[in-house]
Amino acid sequence: MHADPPLIGIAHLQAESVTERVGKRLGAALRLGDTVFLEGELGAGKSTLARAILGALGWRGAVRSPSYSLVHSYTTPVGVVHHLDLYRVASMDEALGLDLDELSRGDSISLVEWPDRLGGALPATWRVSLKVLDKGRELELRGPPRTEIESILAHLNQENDS
Ligand SMILES: Nc1ncnc2c1ncn2[C@@H]1O[C@H](COP(=O)(O)OP(=O)(O)OP(=O)(O)O)[C@@H](O)[C@H]1O
Ligand SMILES: [Mg+2]
Repeated sequence: MHADPPLIGIAHLQAESVTERVGKRLGAALRLGDTVFLEGELGAGKSTLARAILGALGWRGAVRSPSYSLVHSYTTPVGVVHHLDLYRVASMDEALGLDLDELSRGDSISLVEWPDRLGGALPATWRVSLKVLDKGRELELRGPPRTEIESILAHLNQENDS
């Protein structure tokens, strides 16, 4: 199994707009070669994050759920971004039918909803876990200690103080 990325922080996201702002910050911290696991139950906000990340990477078009095709690939100004939604993946064989080499190439970024379906076949650079609360969501962020992360943490704390 791959090692878990280090814990960066936990934050309460009071509303969808806060999820979007965090996604934007996270998008700005990503580098080519990164794989972002987006975890959480149905409706937790994974696609909201993916959309905000793609926006931060310069994608100006629509972002549709790739639940039937499993993966949609976007050519952004930064590079190719793959968005996967593996909810409907029924077996490990089907998951391994995905071109994981292509997905983990150093010149692209992968955003993966329901990464548990991969059974650890792909290592995560980042792990974002969302929990549904009575009001809003709880976010746990794991990833590499990059300087851009400082601004994400500052942003989250600022949201919590407001
Ligand atoms: N922090 C938040 N507080 C309240 N609602 C939120 C928050 N973030 C996102 N939402 C809402 O949660 C709903 C589901 O979001 P989204 O589609 O992104 O979830 P998902 O995890 O991708 O779901 P699925 O597992 O079905 O793909 C949306 O209506 C979105 O507006
Ligand atoms: Mg989704």
